[in-house]
Amino acid sequence: MQKNLKTILKILSDGKHHSGANLGNQLKLTRSAIWKLIKQLEKCGIKIEAKTNLGYRIPSGLELLDKKNILKYLDKKNQTVANKIVIFDEVDSTNNFLATQKKTKYKICFAEFQSAGKGRLGRIWVSPFAQNIYLSLLQQFTLKPHELSSLGLVIAVAIVGALKKYGIKKGIGLKWPNDILWDKKKLAGILIELSGETHHIYKVIIGIGLNVNMSQESGKKITKSWCDISQITKTKPKRNKLAGLLLNHILVAIADYQKNGLAQFIKKWQKLDTTYGKKVTLITPQRKIKGIACGIDKNGYFLLKDNTGKLQTFASGEVSLRIS
Ligand code: BTN
Repeated sequence: MQKNLKTILKILSDGKHHSGANLGNQLKLTRSAIWKLIKQLEKCGIKIEAKTNLGYRIPSGLELLDKKNILKYLDKKNQTVANKIVIFDEVDSTNNFLATQKKTKYKICFAEFQSAGKGRLGRIWVSPFAQNIYLSLLQQFTLKPHELSSLGLVIAVAIVGALKKYGIKKGIGLKWPNDILWDKKKLAGILIELSGETHHIYKVIIGIGLNVNMSQESGKKITKSWCDISQITKTKPKRNKLAGLLLNHILVAIADYQKNGLAQFIKKWQKLDTTYGKKVTLITPQRKIKGIACGIDKNGYFLLKDNTGKLQTFASGEVSLRIS
């Protein structure tokens, strides 16, 4: 983000009114140049109110991501990741950034805005400025790709842990493979991508999108039913706290998974399963299969009793699940 835009955003993030003249003085720009900057901010999805005599204001202000603040929520042993974290104002996709950086300088990437946020199955992930959390981690695993298909379940359980720690004790559930729901509405999603392999060590990018404080305008772009933290808690969300808790729980979960395996995560996941025993439709690139959801097995594969009574097993891959 251009320096002037960032400066004006920082000033307006307090939620108070700032006149065009006052902003002009601070940035050493004319009022019409300030007006142009305001229009650019609006293009990023930031809602700015303009009132005659009072000036510009971001209603209820903005909490921008801040590394120091995020680090406050990491366990002591996780503080070592500090210099591996990068926070962008704008990036195409935090997953893409980690997958394509030349040297592995960064392993954790947050962004305020994604111009090409990606969801599973080629979908778009709506990523307006400073409203939600977009986080990616680069991790190396010696596990084979088919063993890694369960990694999403580990991350989902970790996200639920972070949300509980934040204070959301009720209403959270999971939908296989990677959806975090609240009251049946999508709150967060996970996109796992394999980015390379050397000597049987796999580089994996784990992307997490958490809806925090989505404006109605941005929410209109989402085709499925969704919710965000502000709807759940009915208070102004603390983005840095959420970002820190998320990161900490994910780092702890990955270490635990590498050391002790999947079993404990499967148990936790099963307790959060929102589709167990329900009529569902499983959609693969080739076909749609209707049946009854029978949970997940010890490898994290989905179990579906089809209409002939046969139990079928599915790995996450290109599959999506709908409650019929
Ligand atoms: C889904 O449920 O479809 C997965 C959504 C994953 C979105 C996150 S936001 C951070 C990271 N960067 C991306 O482009 N996508 C993931």
